[in-house]
Amino acid sequence: MTFITSKLRYLILFAVLFLTACQKPMIEIEQGISDFSALGLIPIPAAIEEDEHGFPMYKDTYIKTSDTTAFMLHMAQFTAEKIFHHSGLSLEINPENPRGTAIELEITPTEETEVKTNEHNMDPNTTGESYKISVGKSILKIASAQPSGLFRGIQTLRQLIPNQAATIKNMPVWEIPGGTIEDAPNYAFRGAMLDVARHFFTIQEVKRYIDLLAYYKINILHLHLTDDQGWRIEIKKWPKLTEVGGEKEVGGGTGGFYTQAQYKDLVAYANKHFITIIPEVDMPGHTNAASVAYPFLNGNGKTPELYTGTEVGFSTWDANNEKVYDFVTDVVNEISAMSPGPYFHLGGDESHVTKKPDYIKFVNRVSEIVKQAGKTPIGWDEIVTADTDSTAIAQFWASEKNAAIAVQKGMKVILSPAKKAYLDMQYKEDSPYGLHWAGYVPVDTAYIWTPETYAKGVPSELILGIEAPLWSETISNSDEIEYLAFPRLPGYAELAWSSPEKRDWNEYKGRLALQSLFFDRNKVNYYPSEKIDWVSPPLAPKTIGKD
Ligand code: ACM
Repeated sequence: MTFITSKLRYLILFAVLFLTACQKPMIEIEQGISDFSALGLIPIPAAIEEDEHGFPMYKDTYIKTSDTTAFMLHMAQFTAEKIFHHSGLSLEINPENPRGTAIELEITPTEETEVKTNEHNMDPNTTGESYKISVGKSILKIASAQPSGLFRGIQTLRQLIPNQAATIKNMPVWEIPGGTIEDAPNYAFRGAMLDVARHFFTIQEVKRYIDLLAYYKINILHLHLTDDQGWRIEIKKWPKLTEVGGEKEVGGGTGGFYTQAQYKDLVAYANKHFITIIPEVDMPGHTNAASVAYPFLNGNGKTPELYTGTEVGFSTWDANNEKVYDFVTDVVNEISAMSPGPYFHLGGDESHVTKKPDYIKFVNRVSEIVKQAGKTPIGWDEIVTADTDSTAIAQFWASEKNAAIAVQKGMKVILSPAKKAYLDMQYKEDSPYGLHWAGYVPVDTAYIWTPETYAKGVPSELILGIEAPLWSETISNSDEIEYLAFPRLPGYAELAWSSPEKRDWNEYKGRLALQSLFFDRNKVNYYPSEKIDWVSPPLAPKTIGKD
C-alpha cells in the first residue's frame, strides 16, 4: 500500500516535471513597436497611458473570465469570435491548462470603475459603462463594475488589435500596445435612428447595422416603424396594419414588416450588443399607411390609397374620436410589451393638416397612454407645443424655438439637428444617395460642432444625448445605409462618447483614416470622402470574415 502510494507520488511528480519542461516559454515583447495613437481609436477614450511593453497575442493566448455565468461566457465567446475574424487566431476560453498570455474579462464592483457618467445624463438603462483596460506583458485585463462597461471595453480591445489584414499564416504574433485606458461616456444616450418605413429593411440588414453601431459604442437604435408609406410592425389586435399597410414602400416596390417574433428577436440581438431599441410610431401625421388599413382613423370619411411618394405633412388621425385612442392604446401596449427599454417615441412631427387644438389634444392623450404603458414619451421637437411636462423628452431636429420651449418646461432634449446630424443629408451635390433640404453634410461638417453649446439656451444638464437619424427616402439596402452612415457615424459616436476637450478635427481625421481597414475587412460600403487620407492595408488583404 505504502509502496503504491509513493510510486504514484513519483509518477505525479514526473508528470508535472515533464509537462513543465514541454511548455514553451511565453512570448514576450520587450520593446513595443506600436502605440495607441497608431491604432485609430474611435471614440477617443477619456484617459490613455502608454508604456513600452506590448502584449503579445498569439495562438496560445487564452481568454479568462472572472466567473462562469452565462453572461461572462457569452462575452468571452463574442471576444473570441471577433479576434478570430480579425486575426485568424482561435483563442481558448478558460482552458484547463493555460499556456500563453491571458486576456482577462472581469466584472469587479470594487475596482476603480464606478459609474462616472455625467450625473445629469443618468439613465437607469445605460449607466455603468465605464471600464478600465490594463495591457501588461502577459495579461491584458478589461475590468468594469457593470456588464455594459465590460462590453464597451471589449469594443476598445477590438480596436487595439493592429489593423493589418493579415491572417495567422503571415502574422503569428499580434502586438497590442502596453499601457492603460480608463474610459467612460460623456452622454448616456448615444443614438442612431433607422427609418424602416419609407423603405423596408430586413431583420438581417438591421442586425448588420447593429453590429457596426456597437463597434463605435452607440447604445440606442431608434426604429422609425411607421410612416405614410408603410406600417412595419405586426399588431395582433389590428392585423390589417401590416397586411395592408405594410405592402409597399417608396417607389412602389414590395414593402414588408416585422412579425412580433422577429421584432423580439431583433430586440434580443440589440440587447446582446447593449443597444436599446426605441420604437417609434409616428402620429398624428405621417399616418397614411395605417389609415388605408383602417380608414376610421383619419376621421374624414375617405379611404386613402397606399402612398409611395416622398411628400410629407398630408395625413392625420382624428383627435376627436375615442376609438382612435383605443386603437393607439392597443398599439402602444403591444409594442411596449416587446420593448424592454424605457422609451416610446410617439413622433409628432410635421402634422401640417392637424388643427392646432387637435394636435395638442392628441399629443397630450398619447403621452398619457405611453406613460400608462410604463414608458417615457419621446417626440420630435414639435411636441413641446402641446402640454408636455418635464417627464417627456424632446428630440430637437429643426426648431430652436421648440428647443427653447422644451427648456422652459424642464424637458430633457436629444440633439439631432438636421444640418449637422441627419445621416441622410448628401455629402455634396453629386452624392448618389440622400437629400439636401437641410444642406450638404460632408464628413467634417458632421464632426465639427459642439453638442454641449449647439442649441442656444439649452443648458448642458438638459441634454440627454445625441442621435443621428437616417431617413430612407433614397436608400433601400445595407450598402446604401452604409454609404450614408460611414464615414459620418463614427464622428457622431465620438461627439456622444468623448468629452469636448478630447475632440479635435485635425487629430480625429487621422484616426478616421484608419477606419478604412476595418471597413474593408468587414465589407462596409463607406463613402471614401476625399477630405480623408484613407489608409490602405499595409499587408496583402486576406479577409477571412467579418469582425
Ligand atoms: C423629421 O425629420 N421630420 C423629424
